[in-house]
Amino acid sequence: MGRDAIRKPKLLVTRKLPGPVEERIRANYRAALNGADTVYSSNELAQRAAGMDAALICATERFDADLISRLPQTLRILATFSVGYDHIDVAAATARGIAVTNTPDVLSDATADVAMLLLLGAARGAGWGERMVREQTWKAWSPTAPLGVEVTGKRLGIVGMGRIGQATARRARGFAMTIHYHNRTRLEAALEQGAVFHAALQDMLPHCDFLSIHCASTDATRGLIDARAVAALPDSAIVVNTARGDIVDDDALIEALQSGKLAAAGLDVFAGEPDIDPRYRALDNAFLLPHLGSATAETRIAMGMRALDNLDMYFAGRRPGDILNDVADFQKAGP
Ligand code: DGY
Repeated sequence: MGRDAIRKPKLLVTRKLPGPVEERIRANYRAALNGADTVYSSNELAQRAAGMDAALICATERFDADLISRLPQTLRILATFSVGYDHIDVAAATARGIAVTNTPDVLSDATADVAMLLLLGAARGAGWGERMVREQTWKAWSPTAPLGVEVTGKRLGIVGMGRIGQATARRARGFAMTIHYHNRTRLEAALEQGAVFHAALQDMLPHCDFLSIHCASTDATRGLIDARAVAALPDSAIVVNTARGDIVDDDALIEALQSGKLAAAGLDVFAGEPDIDPRYRALDNAFLLPHLGSATAETRIAMGMRALDNLDMYFAGRRPGDILNDVADFQKAGP
């Protein structure tokens, strides 16, 4: 083995990644790739991490406190190929001195595109309309049925006005929508662009013909859109979620879709996905996608490159741009 190979860090890559990303991995790391793209169990992850310096992981793996306690001492950084990091117990990683990074920014536009796709698809019946064509239940054009909901000029409430929320607002303004938002902190006027800030979610909800969820899944936001929140929305409102499924209380949302309190929902993310609450499948007014928010070739390559930038910086003894926890002295992480 040449000197170069010896110095290259050992990297566990938990899922198959886009070609250019894997090429860069092969060039710079001694990598254990996952050509079969199997979703590893916690036990497999613990075994495969043996002797590794780093792991490039995805939102499909739960790095909880138990798994983190079973990672080898050699493993110093977890770089997740995602902006969300609710699948990682960051406090447990910090306690073990393991750095954690994510991939913000690069997926904001792709995810906001899917938020608009869901908003339009839910409002205009893209799901049931497509099923009618495929299942040959479309008998004739009709002036009165089935009908969707007009989007243009309506009020959109955004929960979580970070990068993706702001990108969604920009798109929605193209449909002449009025933007309301609820965020931990109010944005400066240049970013707000006339959007109406609501310090309390419950105060914003009555102003939302559409509600789009863009906050992270945390202890504070899990179950945030519950029966009380749904009740505060105007009748026939539409809920869109491209963030994380567990921010919504499935019972509350499903009951509101069944009763007609809500006109429709557009969902890209689900609690327990891909094993979603089966009641969603039976709802004609639910427009459902399989977590496609960041799923374009360009964005997935950019996410991989961003994760590798973080790993490269770490192993060069520098603070990664997207570090999520304060772990010791980066100089010591160097080669
Ligand atoms: C993200 O980056 O968080 C996407 O939802 C993929 O997990």
